[in-house]
Amino acid sequence: MTPPDTKSRMPEPEPNGFFKTLNAMGYMSAKPDIFSQAFVDFARKAPGPCLDVGAAYGVASLAALRNGASVIANDLDERHLEILRDRAPAEHRDRLTLLPGDFPDKIDFPQGSLGAVLICRVMHFFDGPKIERAAEKVRGWLAPGGKLFVVSETPFLGTTRSFFPTYLERVKAGHPWPGLVENVAVHDPKRADILPPLMHFLDEPTLRRVFTKAGFVIERLEMFARPDYAPDIQLDGRESIGLIASKR
Ligand SMILES: C[S@@+](CC[C@H](N)C(=O)[O-])C[C@H]1O[C@@H](n2cnc3c(N)ncnc32)[C@H](O)[C@@H]1O
Repeated sequence: MTPPDTKSRMPEPEPNGFFKTLNAMGYMSAKPDIFSQAFVDFARKAPGPCLDVGAAYGVASLAALRNGASVIANDLDERHLEILRDRAPAEHRDRLTLLPGDFPDKIDFPQGSLGAVLICRVMHFFDGPKIERAAEKVRGWLAPGGKLFVVSETPFLGTTRSFFPTYLERVKAGHPWPGLVENVAVHDPKRADILPPLMHFLDEPTLRRVFTKAGFVIERLEMFARPDYAPDIQLDGRESIGLIASKR
């Protein structure tokens, strides 16, 4: 008798081409955004292997592998990484390492050993102290000349309109984490089953403060439009924020 096939499968794409995660941590995007593409372009010439944090089914990892990079694909959910490995062409697999685990607390690397790190659409699931730990750890892991690439959601989404007044009040009051939302279902009940309750919408001053304090030189930091997002999530061209930073 043939044993039952227990392999996890990649879900069918949503209407906008995104893929639901298997662990209710949002969606993997259909293709690399401009900052992930900058990681893919840099990865080939990076001074060491490249870490893709929260890689899901490999939207950025597979592109970086195709581009000749050595990639360490990390995710909380090992099933995502198994699917990623199956999607990688056989001739690229010797440059792919799978690393399941909770970034930044449960994974580790020798100091100065990584060429580039991408944290794409993952940090908005972290509270403030976890973002600070991530910044400090990545700075230690990067080799001289290595770069960090971050993409996160901002408070400027179509689905966070009811949160704007709170966000603006917190900014005015000098709150260190003005975009922190403890129960996302209040703002986006439609997606409460595919998102964790804590969401942390990140803005430019918050990212600048955290990454400068951790010892990075910020090369690029700006909000950008997500025409690829579902229509109700789009707002006015400020939906995502991207950061490129190097080690001081
Ligand atoms: C919204 S998806 C983003 C996937 C992909 N990076 C992209 O840009 O489309 C978030 C992914 O990050 C993973 N993730 C969330 N928190 C994580 C953590 N602390 N450490 C590692 N992976 C994490 C989730 O399992 C999920 O696969």
